[in-house]
This record gives sequence, structure tokens and C-alpha cells, in this order.
Amino acid sequence: MASYDLVVIGTGPGGYVCAIRAAQLGMKVAVVEKNATLGGTCLNVGCMPSKALLHASEMFEEAARSFAKMGVSVSAPKLDLPAMMDFKQQGIDGNVKGVEFLMKKNKIDVLKGTGKIIGAGKVEVSGDGKSETVEARNIVIATGSDIARLKGIDIDEKRIVSSTGALSLEKVPSSLLIVGAGVIGLELGSVWHRLGAKVTVVEFLDRILPGMDGEVAKQFQRLLEKQGFTFKLGAKVTAVDASGKTLQAKIEPAAGGAAETIEADVVLVCIGRVPYTEGLGLKEAGVALDNRGRVEIDSHFSTNVKGIYAIGDVVAGPMLAHKAEDEGVACAEIIAGQAGHVNYDVIPGVVYTTPEVSSVGKTEEDLKQAGVAYTVGKFPFTANGRSKVNQTTDGFVKVLADAKTDRVLGVHIVGVEAGEMIHEACVLMEFGGSAEDLARTCHAHPTRSEAIKEAALAVGKRAIHM
Ligand code: FAD
Ligand code: NAI
Repeated sequence: MASYDLVVIGTGPGGYVCAIRAAQLGMKVAVVEKNATLGGTCLNVGCMPSKALLHASEMFEEAARSFAKMGVSVSAPKLDLPAMMDFKQQGIDGNVKGVEFLMKKNKIDVLKGTGKIIGAGKVEVSGDGKSETVEARNIVIATGSDIARLKGIDIDEKRIVSSTGALSLEKVPSSLLIVGAGVIGLELGSVWHRLGAKVTVVEFLDRILPGMDGEVAKQFQRLLEKQGFTFKLGAKVTAVDASGKTLQAKIEPAAGGAAETIEADVVLVCIGRVPYTEGLGLKEAGVALDNRGRVEIDSHFSTNVKGIYAIGDVVAGPMLAHKAEDEGVACAEIIAGQAGHVNYDVIPGVVYTTPEVSSVGKTEEDLKQAGVAYTVGKFPFTANGRSKVNQTTDGFVKVLADAKTDRVLGVHIVGVEAGEMIHEACVLMEFGGSAEDLARTCHAHPTRSEAIKEAALAVGKRAIHM
């Protein structure tokens, strides 16, 4: 029987990164993966394919709408959807191969099949009618998450789709009804809207992007409406009739009241994701779950069973690839006897739309709720030179600082390239920096990042260009 210091179940960004870090620290490591390819949700049906389609569809729209005003005259772009899907697949393949390479480079054994914990220190791997058992001094559960379903609405991945089906539609739907105004709904809604679909988003709450700063979400909603999105907030889809040529979705106010019917070619259900623990044998192994079905861990990623750890989407916290990766690193370091740590106060979130939305730290709503006195500095891109010359002036930067100490508690951006810009705020916050520190840091001119410096100056009511 093969024996390992560590067996990681699942090769998403949590699992494969954990395996690499453990190998770097001298452990003999194996990963178990039931999917045909490595990389998990993120590489195969999540972050990567969605970003490839967001990029390609953005270029399509730019060519149609923005080139002419810059004096670049081209004929109206034509969509070749199979070629766009091929572009997406090339991106997936490239990244998946990259993970395979990294496994080899770090001498990590890849065990293909479904992993099941069959007792302390033993993992059974089965697939293709075969099964083998390996010994593991430590086990990390990194099995990720699965789509959440709506009762009574069957996802066929053709007309009623989850994010997975929405990443592979064979033609552009003339109308797309999206259930849930979260990250997936707005990102994939943007893709298909840019390619020609009429998009309606039904959201249970009275706002979009719950968890993001309210002012940012409001402004972002207005920008999406300007692009042509329709929002039905405070509403829920209670049934979808798929018997006819077009789908008939029944929509009811969340608070109760008269229902209406909306017709759509495709319905995308994206109301969140749920932890994935099926077939892992957790009950038999005595591993405790919390009240939301997530694997329960302590601050050292340890479950209640000695030698079994868990990280990523399958445990509590934001379901984000970089959170899973950082947990993977910290968990491997802890298993190796080091002081691995994740700072959950500084985990950025990005929505990769046009414009992008990014956020790190506390929102105004968080601070109000916690009774923390804070100061706000805001700066609009309309006053940023680079944004003006590029004519991409939608959005603003908002810096929230502690009223007493000036320490930066949160930064929120809506605007082109917001997803790249947020990281200077992350570094600043990781070092406990103040708005004054940010304001006195020299920023290259002309860049959009100067808007961050100006927002930090605005905390002290001394922005220069406003
Ligand atoms: P996963 O990536 O889900 O990987 C788990 C792996 O475990 C899978 O490969 C699965 O096959 C395997 N597995 C499960 N059970 C077993 C078993 N018993 N035996 C063997 N293998 C098993 N996050 C971001 O940060 N940025 C983004 O832009 C982003 N975009 C997204 C877009 C979409 C459409 C979706 C759906 C998600 C997106 N996410 C994004 C979220 C991100 O994909 C997840 O947070 C991330 O993949 C979680 O990593 P993980 O390692 O915990 O699990
Ligand atoms: P989400 O949690 O972001 O949004 C789901 C939305 O659906 C919420 O606004 C919720 O109020 C709403 N909702 C729930 N039930 C509803 C109902 N019955 N009717 C109408 N609305 C309802 O989840 P989403 O978009 O499915 O994404 C899943 C996960 O994937 C998220 O945790 C996210 O972090 C991750 N992800 C991250 C991305 C990124 O970082 N750019 C991109 C895509 C996904």
C-alpha cells in the first residue's frame, strides 16, 4: 500500500496549491481527483472560462461601440461563437496543463478517481471499476462546492442552465432570464448581453451584489441599466414551464403578491453554491459538518478528527479561488509544524464586468453595524486625467478609514481595471497602513490608480483634482 505524508482530496485552487506547498516543505504528497482534468471548478467551469468569455465578449463590444469614436474605423464585428468557445477552451487547456506540469515538477502523485476517507489515515480511491487504498499521515479535504438548486426547477444545462451550461451555450439566446444578482449572474449576464441577448435579472433582495458596499452596488446597478440590463429586485422565480418553445418563468414579489410571467429562451439559475462532500465518507469517518453542510474546522483548518483538515469552498468563508489558495498554503505550513495563517480581513473581491467592481475590507454597512466611527474619502474617475483621455470615466474610488487612527478599514472601487487597482489597498491594509500613508505614496501619472491616492487625500478633505 502506497503511503504518503499528505493526501489532498480535490485539485481545485485550494487542493493543488496545498499539495505544492506541502511538497516544497519536504512532504511526500498525493492528490486525488475524480474529474477528468485537474484544476477544479476554477479552471474548468469557473474563474478561467468565465474570464475568457468576458474578455472575448468585451473585445467584441469594444470593436462595435468604441473603436469608431477613437478614429479606428472597422466594419461591424461578426460573432463566430464556436471560435469564441474555442478561445475559451484553449485558455482552460493551457491552465489545466500548467497544473499537471506543477504536479510533476513537485513530484506529487496524481491519483485519478473518487476519494473516500475510510478511517483515520486511509483514503480509498475508486474509478473506472478499480479501487486502491493509500495510507496518509494527514488528509486535506479540498472538494470545493457545487451549484445551489431551486426547488422545482430542473437544470438541464441546455435551456435551464447553471453557470456551467451558461459557459457553453450553443447560440446567443435572444432573451436570458437570470435568477440571482450575485457575481455569476452579473458576469455571465454581461457576456451574453454583449453578444446580443436581452438580459433580465430577478433578485430576491432589494439590491444587487449582497455583501459589497451598498453605494458601490447602487452605482454599478445604474451603469448596468444604462448598458441595457433590466433588474427585478425583491422578487423570486417560483416555477419555470419548459413545455413550450420558449420558457415561461413565474415571478413573484419576495414579500408575496401577484405573480407575473416572463418569457425567456434561456434561464440561468445562480443563487449561490453549496459545499460538496458527497461520497467522501465523512459521516463514517466521524468528521463534523456545520449547520450549512460545510466541513467544520478550527483556526488551524483541523476538523474534529485528528489528521484530517479542510480548506476552500467546502469550509466557511467567501467562496473565492484566492481564499482557497491562501488556506491551502497556510494548512500545508501548519501540517509541517509552521505558523501558517490567513488574514480574513484582507481578502479582495472582484466582479469582472465592465466596469469592474472591487472591494477589500469593511463596507460602510459593516462599519455602521459594528458602531465604528469612520471617515470617507471618495474620488470619481470623471476627475482622473487618464480616465478622461481614455473616455472611461464611469465609477469612483471610496476609502474608509478609522476616524480616530486613520487606519484604512476598507477600499471599494467601481471602474475600468478596478480588479487590478485594488491590490495596493490590500498591501497597505496588510501592513496596517493609514489613509495618510496611501495619500503620501507617490503614484505614477497618468494612471487610474491616482484616483486611489486622491480618494485617500479626500479622507483628510484635501483631494487635489476635485
Ligand atoms: P474546487 O475548485 O471546487 O475544486 C474541488 C475539486 O475537488 C474538483 O475538481 C472536484 O472534482 C474534486 N472532488 C470533489 N469531491 C471529490 C472526491 N470525493 N474525490 C476526488 N475529487 C473530488 N472565484 C474567484 O476567486 N474569482 C473568480 O473570478 C471566480 N469565478 C467563478 C466563476 C464561476 C462560474 C464559478 C462557478 C465560480 C467562480 N469562482 C471564482 C469561485 C471559485 O471557482 C471557487 O471559489 C474555487 O474553485 C474553490 O476552490 P476549491 O479548491 O475549494 O474547490
Ligand atoms: P452569490 O451568492 O454571489 O449571489 C447569489 C444571489 O442570488 C444573491 O444576490 C441572492 O440574494 C440571490 N438569490 C438567492 N436565492 C434567490 C432566489 N430564490 N431568487 C432570486 N434571487 C435569489 O452566488 P453566485 O452568483 O451563484 O456565485 C456563487 C459563488 O461563486 C459566489 O460565492 C462567488 O463568490 C463565486 N464567484 C466569484 C466570482 C468572482 O470572484 N469574480 C465570479 C463568479 C462566482
